[in-house]
Amino acid sequence: MDALTAYLEQHRDRFVDDLVQWLRIPSVSAQAQHKADCVRAAQHLADRLKSVGMTRAEVVPTKGHPVVYAEWLGAPGAKTVVVYGHYDVQPPEPLELWKTPPFEPVVRDGKVFARGAVDDKGQVYMHVNAIEAHLKVNGKLPVNLKLVIEGEEEVGSESIEAFLVEWKERLKGDLLVVSDTAMLGPDQPALTYGLRGILYTEIEVVGPKQDLHSGHFGGAVQNPANALCEIVAKLKDSEGRITVPGFYDKVRPLDPAEREMLRKTPFDEAAYLREAGAPAPFGEKGWSTLERMSVRPTCDVNGMWSGYQGEGSKTVLPSLAGAKVSFRLVPDQDADELLRALEAHVKRLAPPGVTVKVKNLHGATPWVMPYDHPLLACARRALDRAWTKPAAMMREGGSIPIVATFERLFGWPVILMGFGLDDDNVHAPNEKFSLSSYHGGTKSVAYLYEELARA
Ligand code: BES
Ligand code: MN
Ligand code: MN
Repeated sequence: MDALTAYLEQHRDRFVDDLVQWLRIPSVSAQAQHKADCVRAAQHLADRLKSVGMTRAEVVPTKGHPVVYAEWLGAPGAKTVVVYGHYDVQPPEPLELWKTPPFEPVVRDGKVFARGAVDDKGQVYMHVNAIEAHLKVNGKLPVNLKLVIEGEEEVGSESIEAFLVEWKERLKGDLLVVSDTAMLGPDQPALTYGLRGILYTEIEVVGPKQDLHSGHFGGAVQNPANALCEIVAKLKDSEGRITVPGFYDKVRPLDPAEREMLRKTPFDEAAYLREAGAPAPFGEKGWSTLERMSVRPTCDVNGMWSGYQGEGSKTVLPSLAGAKVSFRLVPDQDADELLRALEAHVKRLAPPGVTVKVKNLHGATPWVMPYDHPLLACARRALDRAWTKPAAMMREGGSIPIVATFERLFGWPVILMGFGLDDDNVHAPNEKFSLSSYHGGTKSVAYLYEELARA
């Protein structure tokens, strides 16, 4: 065993303790009451990066939550690797469904349970641990490193773009590395070469100027709740295709060779559905489950409200109704363009007697890179050293909005090497990170820095 691997093995328990300390800070970016906690989480990370030996580590204020920037540039002539991650976490609610409180991390059955354990604090700490190990064992890193860890990923990454623009010179580098995605199984590592984008909207339907008696007025004036249901029902046809005119125009056709590669992905569909607790697969006709969740766009209602929802019955004709409707996008769909098409479509679908508004909440550009890129081969070699099965190549259904922005501003290739599992409960109660993924991920990252230096 080489000295680096030995160091990583020896310090496993402490790596867990370190992460647990960070997980205690409730850095919920969506909730104003946690603003100071976000700053605390950023400061905690910057301090930790300093103490493992990064030459510079600072908390940089933005319009929103701060960005943590750190660097180590002691490898002249070697590549400069920029690592992106996020320290903010999703709101923990509903709290009553957590077996142990979200910000009191516990290790149980080889897993650490806490909000942010895997998304993304634990995956950021894999890099911190790998940096520590290289600097302790060799006194240097194999590559130059710049870390950009933001605090608004879970709320759409609003402020970081201005930071990237302002710091463009300082951020000069050769590639981006992100650990914020998943593996295909506990012993099946994966590299992600595509991410979906998103268009997140709110549709509001307004009817009468106030709630009305559903007997005295029902049947004689339009009901906004009924109208909203009509509109939403027509957003997809009976074959699961989205009806917004032009919606598919810019969808890049799936290359047959890529389709064939994806078909061979060791994806366990039965386990995926079991994990979801869904009785049967469902989706767009003509596409497999794996394709539906990665290379095809979607339309989903995330929440809906109208009228009376309390105990018992209340005869009321509500004055308004609303829905949060999101579209996952694939290359080369454009969120702004589709927002306008959606707006016109919804207005056409609306029955008479109501007015509708479509509000844009946030958008992100979809992203994909060639799956045969040489840097991905380099990442595969790193994964080969840490795991027994060869890495699978996949496109993720989720979004990491800033990846496309990095590409647009810097033109770098991106290695998405993440270690989440389908049963990690990301964004849900009882989020966890399996320690086998945490330690395997730490090793993979440590080896990745070496492989990148060789490439
Ligand atoms: N880490 C996730 C993205 C992800 C999800 C990767 C599932 C792999 C599997 C990220 O933190 C996230 O949740 N992104 C949001 C972005 C949104 C708020 C714009 C998403 O995909 O919903
Ligand atoms: Mn994440
Ligand atoms: Mn997330």
